[in-house]
Amino acid sequence: MNNVTTEANRKPAKKTWKKPTISPVRSGIQSKFGATTHNQWKDNIDGVLIKDLIDNHGSPLFVISEKKLRDNMRRLKRVFKARYPDVLFGWSYKTNYLGAVCNVLHQEGSWAEVVSNFEYEKARSLGVPGDKIIFNGPYKTRHILVTAINENARIHIDHIDELYLIEDISNELNKDVKVTLRLNFDTGYTEPWSRFGFNVESGQALNAAWRITSSKHLKLTGLHSHIGTFILEPLAYSAQVRIMCEFMKTVEDKTACEIDYIDVGGGFASLNSLQGIYLPPEQVVPSIEQYADAITSVLLEYTEERVARGRPRPQLVLETGRAVVDDTEVLISSVFADKKLPDGRNAIVLDAGVNLLFTAFWYNHHVTPTRPLDGRAEETVLYGPLCMNIDVLRASIMLPPINVGDTLIFSPVGAYNNTQWLQFIEYRPNVLMIHEDQTVSVIREAEDLSVVTAQERLPEHLKKPFK
Ligand SMILES: Cc1ncc(COP(=O)(O)O)c(C=O)c1O
Repeated sequence: MNNVTTEANRKPAKKTWKKPTISPVRSGIQSKFGATTHNQWKDNIDGVLIKDLIDNHGSPLFVISEKKLRDNMRRLKRVFKARYPDVLFGWSYKTNYLGAVCNVLHQEGSWAEVVSNFEYEKARSLGVPGDKIIFNGPYKTRHILVTAINENARIHIDHIDELYLIEDISNELNKDVKVTLRLNFDTGYTEPWSRFGFNVESGQALNAAWRITSSKHLKLTGLHSHIGTFILEPLAYSAQVRIMCEFMKTVEDKTACEIDYIDVGGGFASLNSLQGIYLPPEQVVPSIEQYADAITSVLLEYTEERVARGRPRPQLVLETGRAVVDDTEVLISSVFADKKLPDGRNAIVLDAGVNLLFTAFWYNHHVTPTRPLDGRAEETVLYGPLCMNIDVLRASIMLPPINVGDTLIFSPVGAYNNTQWLQFIEYRPNVLMIHEDQTVSVIREAEDLSVVTAQERLPEHLKKPFK
């Protein structure tokens, strides 16, 4: 009988042996790499497809949501005004001074808070009148101070030499000038930023107040302090306001001044992951309501006596930066190459690096794919395009295999990137704003060679590279 192989007598094929591997199961739980996010993805911003944005405007790309920006500002105002009606916001230009961003916030009622000649001029060029500018910073030169005084800006005096300079200008112009003292002190919660302003504990601030009130044209009408940034403890603000109110009472009692406003600066944390903080920002960052309660409860308590004497409470001024703008902007970057490092880790080269995302030095930004990624998540390093070893957007993140040409969204990136980014090795890309009706505007055009070399001048004998 022939040896016929039938379905019934077929021997199962011998399986090839595979070396077993053991790997930890990471299914979205918190690990030393942070929470895995690869199983979340997003293909649009405010309903506009990311693919269309990249097709039309290139990659990398910054994208800002006008709706989110307005919503954030409205919420901040609502929360504070509900607790303390006389509140004013100054938009901290250094956080993001793209004109479109500033003007959205000005339209929502914010004044401009500037810290340099350039920022002052930028605010004025956007149409902000001088008397809606709060002028901070340790380096205000005579030229810009003369302008600011003539235009009735709120000038916050940083040091004694500036006080003398302002006094000198006021005498020269024969003009009364309302000024604010910037204070520094120890809240017990934050590292004092004692390099700015006048120290309260040592008596320096009171001496400066005396000096102002003895001056012919200067009028002390405001107190300012900015106790730090990304402050995770609302009680730091309670301590700040208490110290400022006590100082206000002292200067009003001891000198012939009346304080009209107390400016508590910025510093509220945004929903970003500070490196070294284990828990996700949703768990560690206080709400705007918590910050507002901490500030206004103490301000109301300490100004009660003033109200009893028939005087209005001082205006509360806030210069909130990152908490307004950070989560309104994302950076979209494309995978340019895929690598295996000698130690076995995956690495990808992106078209955006620390030149664009300066805050990658201290944040672990959220990284979201723009399509669902299949496969096992593996430890991956995210490199930027620069030929510099420091160009690492993330030293370690769990990501499934990703293809060249795939896009990743980095968020939140709205604070301190479009101001601290570097024109270094690469051109800076387009910045888009998606408006509330889902139309899209380029609010800062991508650079090219002519932009980068615009200020250069070649001496005649250097016009040719070779003789
Ligand atoms: C004087 C002043 N006001 C406001 C801000 C904005 O701070 P933040 O972005 O932390 O709210 C800063 C930033 O350092 C500042 O120096």
